[in-house]
Amino acid sequence: MRSIKVNLEKKYSSSYEIRIGNGIIDRIALLVAKNHKADKYAIITDDNVARLHGKNFLAVLKNIGLNADMIDFPAGEASKNIGTILDISDKLLKLGADRTTCLIALGGGVAGDMTGFIASVYMRGVPYVQIPTSLVAQVDSAIGGKTAIDLPAGKNLLGTFNQPSEVFADLNFLNTLPAKEFENGLAEIIKYGIIDDEKMFILLEDNMDAVKQKDPVMMLKIVENCCRIKKAIIEIDEREQGLRRILNYGHTLGHALEAVSDYKLSHGEGVALGMIAAARISAKKNYLDAQEATRIEEIIRLANLPTKIPGFLPAGEIINRLQMDKKKKGDTIHFVLLKKIGMPFINGGVANDIIGEVIEEMKL
Ligand code: GLY
Repeated sequence: MRSIKVNLEKKYSSSYEIRIGNGIIDRIALLVAKNHKADKYAIITDDNVARLHGKNFLAVLKNIGLNADMIDFPAGEASKNIGTILDISDKLLKLGADRTTCLIALGGGVAGDMTGFIASVYMRGVPYVQIPTSLVAQVDSAIGGKTAIDLPAGKNLLGTFNQPSEVFADLNFLNTLPAKEFENGLAEIIKYGIIDDEKMFILLEDNMDAVKQKDPVMMLKIVENCCRIKKAIIEIDEREQGLRRILNYGHTLGHALEAVSDYKLSHGEGVALGMIAAARISAKKNYLDAQEATRIEEIIRLANLPTKIPGFLPAGEIINRLQMDKKKKGDTIHFVLLKKIGMPFINGGVANDIIGEVIEEMKL
């Protein structure tokens, strides 16, 4: 098992460990018991993960003598709303959960974001640990303390910064992940190569088949590397005042594409297209060598992610949607652009006509 410490100044949050391994569920239970002593533990998960892993993990916790329960909600982004938060909170009350309870987020981004959110507000705050079961959650959303639920107007509009007390990533969970979910994670992994680590980008170029086959040695190396990159960013900019925004590389346009497609495009597909678009914009503005933009497009193709924007998505609507991005400042949309693979920067001034041009060039 690998351990990575996220060192945070006491200003907002305490430091915590990220543990990564293969088939470590028994050890996770023992570490939860040792490091997070609580009168009660409540696993919060979706109904798929409850069936696949939750029941087993609950039994493991009970076997070592912990007072543990599990609450589940219907799987999917549609559950990430205030109704589910109220429902889970009611269930926690009925189970007798109080401030001495530790919540356990078991699942993908939806379970993690919602559990973190409840942990911020339930009885004015309780501790929680993250046990991410999807690749996106293991390399991204379970780390860094962003919690959120969606509003009808958009995703993640209600949320807090609330760091977990520990993160446990068991790569074994990836074996039951649907292919689309795995691809969502591949997009995030490629993103880390682009924004911070050309060496990992080259490793991915050379070993994409092994990654797609979930080769355990390769996956451990890559997930660990991604977690190290994210932890280094969080340590510098926990509350996204600046540097942390580079984690949104490809996400600005990606979110707009997801929304305009009525979520027919998955998150990974939107981000993949957004990453290509951001590279093309960077090349058009002469920040990035055009060959580097081609390498980015090629690695996305190797990962079986889309490289073309579906023809039925109107450029005008995509640009309108970009204006609603919650990360914009005033009228300026923050695009993360590139000078090189591994060298991103935040650019607030991309004109709509350049964005429109790139969208049209990328249409199927
Ligand atoms: N997923 C982006 C971030 O954690 O900042």
